[in-house]
Amino acid sequence: MLDILRRRRSIRRYKDREIEAVIIEQLKEAALRSPSSRAINPWRFLFITDKARLEALSRAKESGSGFLKGARLGVVVCAKDDESDVWIEDCSIASIILQLTGQSLGLGSCWIQIRKRMHSDRQSAEDYVKEVHHLPENIRVESMIAFGYPDENKPPVPKEELDYEKIILSR
Ligand SMILES: Cc1cc2nc3c(=O)[nH]c(=O)nc-3n(C[C@H](O)[C@H](O)[C@H](O)COP(=O)(O)O)c2cc1C
Repeated sequence: MLDILRRRRSIRRYKDREIEAVIIEQLKEAALRSPSSRAINPWRFLFITDKARLEALSRAKESGSGFLKGARLGVVVCAKDDESDVWIEDCSIASIILQLTGQSLGLGSCWIQIRKRMHSDRQSAEDYVKEVHHLPENIRVESMIAFGYPDENKPPVPKEELDYEKIILSR
């Protein structure tokens, strides 16, 4: 796991190569194995491979989402907010589990923040994503995770650059 964490970087450029069905199945399993508060599992995961749909979702925000157009898979991580008061935490955990599992399977990925972001002056990114997918009112969208085989090389962050001042030692 530490090796995966050392090599993990956000990847936003993807090869023109399909993600095999067996890999997608493993991502689904990983998402569903995410821990959640009180094991309520309030999340829902929309797995999208359709190019037109990915293109539409890539327009969710003015910036920071455009690369989804070049991805081979997008996972919209959302939840029923009336099922759990900590759906945000649960969705965040599932999002990173999806990313780390993807990396262990040779995929690159990047988190696209949707909750609390805007699509335009008048529409939130969340409402835009819900409109594209015809999602019901009580569904809240946390993130979208873009996946594909990496078409960019990003070096791991050297250990010397880690901010150890953020670690507080208690006496
Ligand atoms: C909660 C969260 C939201 C993020 N939102 C976006 C986003 O909307 N668009 C994007 O391109 N990257 C997004 N990222 C990726 C970060 O920009 C990236 O993790 C950070 O710059 C560190 O780079 P690294 O992942 O390569 O180490 C997000 C990451 C997190 C954890």
